[in-house]
Amino acid sequence: MVKPDGVQRGLVGEVINRIEKRGLKIVALRMNIISRESALKHYAEHSQKPFFKSLVDFITSAPSVSMVVEGKNAVAVMRAINGATNPANAATGSIRGDFALDTGRNIVHASDSPESAKREIEIHFKESEIAGYSRIDETWVYET
Ligand code: RTP
Ligand code: MG
Repeated sequence: MVKPDGVQRGLVGEVINRIEKRGLKIVALRMNIISRESALKHYAEHSQKPFFKSLVDFITSAPSVSMVVEGKNAVAVMRAINGATNPANAATGSIRGDFALDTGRNIVHASDSPESAKREIEIHFKESEIAGYSRIDETWVYET
């Protein structure tokens, strides 16, 4: 997900570019203002944290871009593309390491396990919105 700060800063293309060029496949994509209901579900694991209200307020404050991304080790690779939660600790070359300074404005979100990916996809997308297709470069990205 490109969070509202990433959209406002004109980084949607930059984020998508990195995902596509890495060889991961975008199979669903939408820009919208996330409903409070979806945001509460999405961040339920943080409901007892002191930053929960500001996080939900922020993620629902303006448009964000949600995506479903597929590929080998997609969860781990997406986390590495994004970089550490606190941009001060994020490697240069990662999105947060290249474009962010503040944990509360860290531009992107990615699921932290295949289980949370499944849970989060169900919050943001209907099954009919997810496209199954082959990318023409797949045999050049994967040794089969
Ligand atoms: P995300 O879920 O957004 O991909 O980020 P993450 O896994 O790297 O970090 P997580 O621990 O899940 O935290 C979710 C988001 O909450 C905000 N946060 N603020 N003020 C704080 O101490 C704090 N800690 C986390 C960040 O925006 C983080 O991405
Ligand atoms: Mg997280």
